Amino acid sequence: MAEVLQKEINEARQGEAFAPFAQDPNVYSKKFYIESYGCQMNFSDSEIVASILQEEGFGATRNFEEASLVLLNTCSIREKAEQTVRNRLQAFRKIKDKNPGMLIGVLGCMAERLKAKFLEEEKLVDIVVGPDAYRSLPGLISEAEGGQKTVNVLLSREETYADISPVRLDSNGVSAFVSIMRGCNNMCTFCVVPFTRGRERSRDAASIVRECQDLFDRGYREVTLLGQNVDSYYHAPAAEPGKEEAPVTFAKLLELVAAISPLLRVRFSTSHPKDITDDVLETMAHYENICKYIHLPVQSGNTRILALMNRTYTREWYLNKVKRIREYMPDCGLSTDVISGFCSETEEEHQDTLSLMEQCRFDMAYMFSYSERPGTLAARRYQDDVPEDVKKRRLEEIIALQNSHSRESYKNDIGKVFRVLIEGDSKRSADHWSGRNSQNKVVVFPKEHYELTKGDYVNVKIGEATSATLIGTIV
Ligand code: SAH
Ligand code: SF4
Ligand code: F3S
Repeated sequence: MAEVLQKEINEARQGEAFAPFAQDPNVYSKKFYIESYGCQMNFSDSEIVASILQEEGFGATRNFEEASLVLLNTCSIREKAEQTVRNRLQAFRKIKDKNPGMLIGVLGCMAERLKAKFLEEEKLVDIVVGPDAYRSLPGLISEAEGGQKTVNVLLSREETYADISPVRLDSNGVSAFVSIMRGCNNMCTFCVVPFTRGRERSRDAASIVRECQDLFDRGYREVTLLGQNVDSYYHAPAAEPGKEEAPVTFAKLLELVAAISPLLRVRFSTSHPKDITDDVLETMAHYENICKYIHLPVQSGNTRILALMNRTYTREWYLNKVKRIREYMPDCGLSTDVISGFCSETEEEHQDTLSLMEQCRFDMAYMFSYSERPGTLAARRYQDDVPEDVKKRRLEEIIALQNSHSRESYKNDIGKVFRVLIEGDSKRSADHWSGRNSQNKVVVFPKEHYELTKGDYVNVKIGEATSATLIGTIV
C-alpha cells in the first residue's frame, strides 16, 4: 500500500500528462491539443507554446479528436519517459488515419535528443521542435500544412522567451510557474538535460518581476520560480551610459518577487546543493511569504558515487547544507531526488544512501533507478553494470525507508496550526478545501460555514495525517 501510494505521488508530482482547458471555441479558427511530460519546465514551456500558437489563431482544446494540430511536449530524462511518449504516439496514429489532415508535432527534450531521426523512426510525426526553437513554430506549421516534414532543433545561448506572456493551461487560478532561466551547465554524468536544453542562461529580472506582478494582479497567490539550478541565476542588465544597475543574483531575485505583496507566496525549484548560498537561506528566513520548503536533490549518499556523477559535492558537504538550512529555518520542509544503482555502485555505497536519508529525514522524495542515457558521459565512460534486479531491489529499499520517513514527518504535524493557501475543492469532496502549507504539504479540511474562496489564506489545525496529506479544521 505504502509503495503504491508513493508511486502515485511520484507520478502525480512528476506530471505524467495533462490537457489544457478549452478556451472560447468561437474566437479561434483552428484548434491545437497539447500534452506535456517531464519536469515543470516542460509544463511551463507548453504555456509559452500556447501563447505563440494563440497569436496564430490557434485555440487550445482538451479533445484531441477536434484538433488540427496535436503536440507532445516530451521528456528524455529516463528510458521509460521516452517509451511513454512512443506509446502515446501510437494512440494518435488511429486518429490520424481517420483525419489525415491533422498535424502531429513533437516538442521538448526528446525532439532535441533525436532531431530529424524522429521523423524516420515515427513516420506519423510532421513537426519536430526543440526547446529553444518554439518561436519558429508558426513557420514550421505552415510548411507542414503544405505537406513538408519540418524540423528545428537549434539550441540558443540567448533565448529565454522573456517577452512572451504564457497562456496558463490547466491552471487553478491560484498558483503559476514562472521560468527564470533555461538550460544547464552542470554536466552531471547521468543526465541528458545539458544536451537537450543547452547552455544555462538567465532571464531578465525585470521581465520576471513583471510577470509575477501581473499574475498577482489577476488573482494568483503563488508563483514557483523555475530553473534546473535556480541558485546559479545571475542576470546583469545591459550597461547603459549614466546608469549603473547591479547584477541580480537568485537571493536578490527572490527578494524582488517577495516584495510584490506579502499575499503572494514564492516557491522555487530546483536547488543544487553546491550552489544554494547562505544569502538565499537568509532571504528565505526573512520573508514570511517565501515558502519554507527546499527541494535539494542529493542523488546518492556516497562520496565516491557523487564524484562519478560529477555532482561536485561530498556526502559531508550535503549534510552540512541540510544543517545550515535547519539553522536558518528550523521548520523548513525538505525533499530530494535519489538514484539507485548508478554505475559501479556497491552494496555498501547503497547503504550510504540509506544512512544519509536516515540523517536528513526528508519529508518527500522522488526516487528512480539509474537509466543510461545515450550521449551522456556516464554512457560513454562507465559500465551500466548494476543488474536491473539489484537496482530495483535497492530502489525498493529506498522507497520503503522514505515512506516511513514521510509518514513520520506528516504524523509529527498533528496538533500544529498552519497557514494554508486554498487552491480549490479537495479531490474527494466538494465539502472540503484543499491547499498547501508553507512546507508544501497538502492540507485538506472541511469548508464548514466560513465564506472562503480559493486564493484565500486560512489557519488550519491538523488533526490527522496520512503519508501524503494533512487533514485538519479551520481555527
Ligand atoms: N536539475 C535538477 C534535476 C533535473 S532531473 C537537479 O540537478 O537536481 C530530475 C531528476 O531525475 C534528477 O534529480 C535525478 O534524480 C533524476 N535523473 C536524471 N537523470 C537520470 C537518469 N539517467 N536515470 C535515473 N534518474 C535520473
Ligand atoms: Fe541534470 Fe545535473 Fe543539470 Fe540537474 S544539475 S539538470 S541533474 S545536469
Ligand atoms: Fe525531462 Fe527535459 Fe525536463 S529531459 S525532466 S523534460 S528538462
